[in-house]
Amino acid sequence: MIYTLTNKNPGFPISAAIIAQIDEEKRVRHTREMILLFGLGSQFDHLIKQEIEKLGVFCMVADPATISSDDVKQVAPIGIILSGGPSSVVDEPPPLDKTILGLGIPTLGICLGLQGIAQYVGAEVTSASQSPSGYREFGTHIATITEDSSSVNALFRGLPRMMDVLESHGDCVQPSPKLTILATTENAPVAAARGAAKEHQHLYGVQFHPEVEETQFGSRILANFCFGVCGAKESFRAQDEAEIKTEWLRQEIGDKLVVIGLSAGSDSSTCAHLVKKALNDQPGRVLGVYIKATDRPEDEEFVRRHFGNQDWIELKVVDATSQFLKALRNQPWWWPSKWCPLQRRITMKQKRRAMKRVYHQVLEDEITIFAAAKNRPRDEVVIIQGTLYTDLCESGHGYNTGARRATIKEHHNVGIPFSVKELCPLDDCVKDNGRNIGRAIGVPEELLTRHPFPGPGLIVRIEGEVTADKLRIARAADKIWIDELRDKGFYHKVWQAGVFVTQSGTTCTKGDDATSGLVIIFWAVNSTNGFTARAADLPMSFLRRVSQRMTNEIREVGAAAYRTSDKPPTTIEFG
Ligand code: XMP
Repeated sequence: MIYTLTNKNPGFPISAAIIAQIDEEKRVRHTREMILLFGLGSQFDHLIKQEIEKLGVFCMVADPATISSDDVKQVAPIGIILSGGPSSVVDEPPPLDKTILGLGIPTLGICLGLQGIAQYVGAEVTSASQSPSGYREFGTHIATITEDSSSVNALFRGLPRMMDVLESHGDCVQPSPKLTILATTENAPVAAARGAAKEHQHLYGVQFHPEVEETQFGSRILANFCFGVCGAKESFRAQDEAEIKTEWLRQEIGDKLVVIGLSAGSDSSTCAHLVKKALNDQPGRVLGVYIKATDRPEDEEFVRRHFGNQDWIELKVVDATSQFLKALRNQPWWWPSKWCPLQRRITMKQKRRAMKRVYHQVLEDEITIFAAAKNRPRDEVVIIQGTLYTDLCESGHGYNTGARRATIKEHHNVGIPFSVKELCPLDDCVKDNGRNIGRAIGVPEELLTRHPFPGPGLIVRIEGEVTADKLRIARAADKIWIDELRDKGFYHKVWQAGVFVTQSGTTCTKGDDATSGLVIIFWAVNSTNGFTARAADLPMSFLRRVSQRMTNEIREVGAAAYRTSDKPPTTIEFG
């Protein structure tokens, strides 16, 4: 369900079939208006789409490598957005037909997109080392509006003069008579700008990221662009998304059986409810598989409570702990450790891959068992996964825009070579809109608002080899942390919280003896979708109590530390 506007025969007009598909997309959304988002490879591409769609405006992602200005004219968007990306207009320009910028269609460049616009109008873009402070900008900075006239500066209409903005850029646009500067930050003389010449006044750009929550008034800036600059008037409802997905599942599943991996989180639960709706609660068609091994203490209870004893789904709990532990050993099973006194250090990447193999195998086995139980051939089963767009994107997939995309981490549920058809109804969603779809179809709020938990589970929250003991310690620490958060009313005030079991030892005194204990790191972040995050500001007395409980109640723990770093640069999970 990922739709990227691509021209398969560059140089020729895009096909009538694609135009018909776009018309259909508009029809189901009850709109004739569309914003075209050229994804230049940013980790935030989808977030821009999500933010625009939250405003009720239809946004379609376009491939900058194949869509020409003639194609743009044909699909007639009301506005264009150029996203950020990992390339640099100075030495590695992203693919884009620059004549698109000359069409007169209102355009907003974000980060790399602004730099592309600046270059197009004739302003200079330099490496940030030439900026006044010599620093590149990563993280939150204060932007000051420098252009007061709201007819010139429609982007910032109605906003206060100063605001926090999230920046993450290496290159810098230099002031130029070709640009009207709309805002500046300490290190970026051009934090927002508009083309100065009459023929460039439809071109706007911001150096910061309005699509992330760290940017104050980011959604107001995008709304000003859509409604104020582009003149959008029509919108669609989130409920329609749920209906589109239900209908899509109904057609894709046909009369086949369904196996769905359940984790008690919002994504897999929403997918299960979409399937329930698509199959009209028909019994005997759906198997929910809960794989127990690297899960949180409460997960099994949640799955049993919400998916056990129901007519439309059979629930199977598979305890795969021993398979996972075997796969996650420091040495392969056939390598006796006496032959290798120097133990290999197993990396997160290796653990993620090993976990993925076992996860795949367990599901394939369950597909075989379920098909046999129903007297149906294996290929009459489809597997449903709650994969989000975020997972695809971080694994280096995502919208196929032809631009280079960095791989952040390989997700366990992306790119598995299943032997049966795989359906991922939420793979065009991030956490937030996945949750909204869940709400629209009545998924219990208790499931929707649980903290996100990574698919590989505690594996990515344990440094080095994963052992039964370390899993026990991670669970015990997680339970203390989450119980305390719930108890003091902080659970729903933070977006996600967890613990990390390090391999570091600390000297500690428990009783009269000096011993060595493990260091645990516990963390909590605020975020809307995990793309960016800020360490939650929690009272010191509360943190001290959690730390005391961990060191007192878990024999092996010598110290517990609270993490205060933000994302970027730190990712939410340690692995
Ligand atoms: P990071 O660590 O990349 O995490 O800042 C962003 C969000 O994604 C979750 N996460 C994962 N979820 N499979 C998942 O299903 C994974 O491999 C994975 N890695 C990270 C993480 O918990 C956070 O909410």
